[in-house]
Parts: sequence; structure tokens; C-alpha cells
Amino acid sequence: MQEPELLDNPLVVIENQLEKSTLEKVNDPFLKSAGVNLWMKRDDRLHPIISGNKWRKLKYIVEHALSVQACTLISMGGQYSNHLHALAFVGKQLGLPTKAWIRGEPPLEFNSTLKDLVDWGMELHFISRSEYRELRQIKDHDGLPEKYGVGYWLSEGGANPLALRGVAELVLEISQPCDYFCLPCGTGTTLAGIASTGAGRFSILGFVVFKGGAYLEHEISALLPHQIAPESWQLNLDYHFGGFAKTSPQLLAFVDTFMATTGIRIEPTYTGKMLYGIYDLVKQKHFKKGQNIIALHTGGLQSIRAPI
Ligand SMILES: Cc1ncc(COP(=O)(O)O)c(C=O)c1O
Repeated sequence: MQEPELLDNPLVVIENQLEKSTLEKVNDPFLKSAGVNLWMKRDDRLHPIISGNKWRKLKYIVEHALSVQACTLISMGGQYSNHLHALAFVGKQLGLPTKAWIRGEPPLEFNSTLKDLVDWGMELHFISRSEYRELRQIKDHDGLPEKYGVGYWLSEGGANPLALRGVAELVLEISQPCDYFCLPCGTGTTLAGIASTGAGRFSILGFVVFKGGAYLEHEISALLPHQIAPESWQLNLDYHFGGFAKTSPQLLAFVDTFMATTGIRIEPTYTGKMLYGIYDLVKQKHFKKGQNIIALHTGGLQSIRAPI
């Protein structure tokens, strides 16, 4: 017989769909010859749609939204946003209306991400970059000015202290010794979640995927409980490739070679930039021989689908 507690919890609809996230050694002759052990925490395996850090961040935010009887989930993002994609899917699964403020002019033709948002019933509004910047400042779930809608507000990328708890759960799944835990950073929320539980157990290295990301240090510190030592985590700003979602022939060639060598699918915007950075640091002998590095695969593969 099923636990009555589970039946009372609507999140079970999602939780029951999840697959296991495994920890896999990356087999690459280059790493072998460098004497470095690279492991991938395969959060991309969790779910075909809400993969990577998406459900990790959303789980307790959505739980809270349900507990305050939110009528609508409202958030913001770019036109390829993995966060909005996950939110629209979750809203549809739970029967909760969703609404999004999207940066820039509406495109003449919707990409696959936007088409999914519409198919899953998300109400879309396109806004100017200056309005978008204004919205970025709103952090509290009940702080959204009425002109943007009435409902539960999720700030960009789900940056909210409640997101940390879900992310922290992934650290508890790892029993393997680890010297460095690496991950890509957008808002830094995932890093804060890792640090909230992993600080002291390994050094945390966040690869910022856009230009001018030094300010993230302040944002991450603001999300973290005070007792977390600032020296337990560090941001690397060197592998943004010119900006968010920008690439270069070297990055794209690296992503292709990595996928062909290891059989692990990655995208260039987040996990690709992080892995490029890790490989470059291996070349520079930043890591000692025999050290164990865990890299988080944060998913996002929906953004590299062929157009439909
Ligand atoms: C695939 C993917 N990886 C990494 C990140 C960065 O996560 P965070 O914003 O928590 O730093 C995002 C954005 O949420 C993402 O979509």
C-alpha cells in the first residue's frame, strides 16, 4: 500500500518520473596521461526535460509555492531558457498556471524552447532589456509589482534560498572521495547549494559562463548561510568565450571531441564551457596527479535540439 503522506504530496507526480543520477569516470586518454581522475555527476540523466540542476533548484521552491496556495508561477528568462522550459513543464504536470517575462522582441519564428513553453500552456510576454534588468532586481517570491502579474515570483534562474536545499541533496548522493567539485555558474544558485553542504569536504570551483561575472561572488555569498567559509568556493572567470551563449570554433571543436571521445552529450553554453576550463587547467597542471575532480553535468540539452 502506498504511504498516505506521498499521496498528499503533489510533487510525487514529478519525483516518480526521475531516473538516477550516476557518478561516472570520464574515460579520456588525455586525462589518463595527465594522471587526473575526472568524474561526471550525471544529473543530465535525471529526466528528459527537467534534467540537470533544474528540478534540483525548483523542487522546494515549488513545494513552497503550493504551500502558500500560489495561483500562478511567474518567472523570467531568455528565449532559450532552460529554467523557463523546466518551469513550464512542472506547471503543466502539476496543473499550475505559469507565466514568463522573456527578454527581447518576440522572434518572427519561435524556437523549439519557446514552442514547448506555449505547448505547455505558459503565458509569454516579451520585454525590453531595460525592463528585464528591472525585473532581475526582484528576489522575493511575493515582491513582484502588480503590473507584472499576481502570483508566486521566481527570480531569474530560480535564484532563491529554497533552491539550495534541493541542490544540496546531490552532494549527499556522492560517497566518492573528491578534491575538487566543478560546476558551471549562471546565477550561482547551484554553486551556493553545493557549498551549503559540500564546503569543507572538497574545493568548489565554479566556471562563470558569461563576461563580467565577478559580481556573482556577492550574490552567492548573499544566498549562503553565514557559517560557510568563503574560501571553500571559488569562481573562475576565464572561460566565458565572450559572453553568455557565445561560442568560438575552439569551444565547439572541444565539445565535439569530448562527446566523440567519452560518449557523453554536452552543450556548449554551460557544461561545455566548464569542461573546456577543466581541461585547460589540467594542461596548466593546476590539479595534482592522482586528484579526483567531480564535474557536474547540469543538463540543458534541450537548448541544442534541432529546430522542429
Ligand atoms: C544547463 C544549465 N547549467 C547551469 C546553469 C547555471 O545554474 P545557476 O544559475 O544555478 O548558476 C543553468 C541555469 O540555470 C543551466 O540552465
